[in-house]
Amino acid sequence: MEILSAVLIGIIFVFGFVVVFGAPYVPTLKPQIGVALDLLDLQPGQTLIEVGSGDGRVLLAAAERGWQAVGYELNPVLVIWSWWRTRKYRRQVRVIWGNALTKEWPLTDGIYVFGVQRIMSKLHTKIVQSIQEPVKLASFGFELPGQKALQTKNGIYLYKIKPR
Ligand SMILES: C[S@@+](CC[C@H](N)C(=O)[O-])C[C@H]1O[C@@H](n2cnc3c(N)ncnc32)[C@H](O)[C@@H]1O
Repeated sequence: MEILSAVLIGIIFVFGFVVVFGAPYVPTLKPQIGVALDLLDLQPGQTLIEVGSGDGRVLLAAAERGWQAVGYELNPVLVIWSWWRTRKYRRQVRVIWGNALTKEWPLTDGIYVFGVQRIMSKLHTKIVQSIQEPVKLASFGFELPGQKALQTKNGIYLYKIKPR
């Protein structure tokens, strides 16, 4: 019983920490995942980065399309769960525990985020610094300050970000 209480308190602490320092965990719904991935329109073998990959559902959908997918997630409980959830696609999916805004990124062909408004400006700077070619970003629910979306569909803003 004491162990169970300690585990519960630990989980509440971890999710609370992430709410304070990042974005709360709210998953993207299936129809929006389809729209976002359609808008990004990567080819099999190309790489998607997901900023705040939550429970791994977007990584899984990307892998089912034959894409490579790299997710960054602050919440260790969600990292473990998404790693397990994507086990069938071990060669395609990587889940990295940590702050997506400070980790070094691999070369990417597309980026997905469902974050909160206050990280969007920092995210734009991070993308500009990390890419070598123009890259598409699909953002669910939140716009990039000062940037014009190429398209908006079902709450998803599609941007093309140019490198520095
Ligand atoms: C709104 S949820 C979206 C989860 C998932 N992307 C989805 O669409 O189903 C945002 C997630 O981003 C994570 N997060 C927030 N800021 C982050 C950061 N700087 N680096 C990595 N993960 C972050 C949170 O822990 C949370 O799981």
